[in-house]
Amino acid sequence: MKKIVIGISGASGSIYGIDLLKKLKQYKDVETHLVMNKWAMENIKLETPYDPQNIIEMADFYYDNNNLGASISSGSFQVDAMVIAPASMKTVAGISIGFDADLIMRAAGVMIKENKQLILVPRETPLSAIHLENLTKLAKLGVHIIPPIPSFYDKPKTIQDIIDHQSMKILDSLGIQNNIETRWEN
Ligand SMILES: Cc1cc2nc3c(=O)[nH]c(=O)nc-3n(C[C@H](O)[C@H](O)[C@H](O)COP(=O)(O)O)c2cc1C
Repeated sequence: MKKIVIGISGASGSIYGIDLLKKLKQYKDVETHLVMNKWAMENIKLETPYDPQNIIEMADFYYDNNNLGASISSGSFQVDAMVIAPASMKTVAGISIGFDADLIMRAAGVMIKENKQLILVPRETPLSAIHLENLTKLAKLGVHIIPPIPSFYDKPKTIQDIIDHQSMKILDSLGIQNNIETRWEN
């Protein structure tokens, strides 16, 4: 059983985290551990047809972002990887300085200290030098930065096509086989 923590923070694009959760649900050997913060929930209501409760029900386990005593807050709780999609610049900043102010940042910090896989889907534009420095610092520590940048070589026709491509990139990084058909082939 592969245990994957999914964090959804308050940047635009909560649909990326939601889509990943939906896709991971199809794998019987994957267990999902979800944590969302306040602005993630606000953005879910603003940007998607879902209510945060719908998203909570998609996950195998859900943790309150204020619960620093949750299992994923400890390195002794064994998980394989964590994905934060989308990652706001505030959450990125917190992780980059080890400021474990909430459960998302703490769980991400645990992944770094335990040498486990951490994937960030940072969403902001334009990116300031502060954002870029924080992301560069994390990339140098081995954090995989997969920004939600659409490709056009797969000729997306719908927003879902663009989201699928992003989910494919994340699943590939997690080493999870998938048949999402948005790859470059020539
Ligand atoms: C509709 C909406 C869209 C936002 N989009 C972004 C974004 O794309 N990137 C970002 O870093 N912050 C964005 N923000 C601001 C964050 O929500 C805000 O900085 C918040 O404090 C982030 O907190 P968190 O890191 O705990 O999620 C957005 C806020 C709202 C209301």
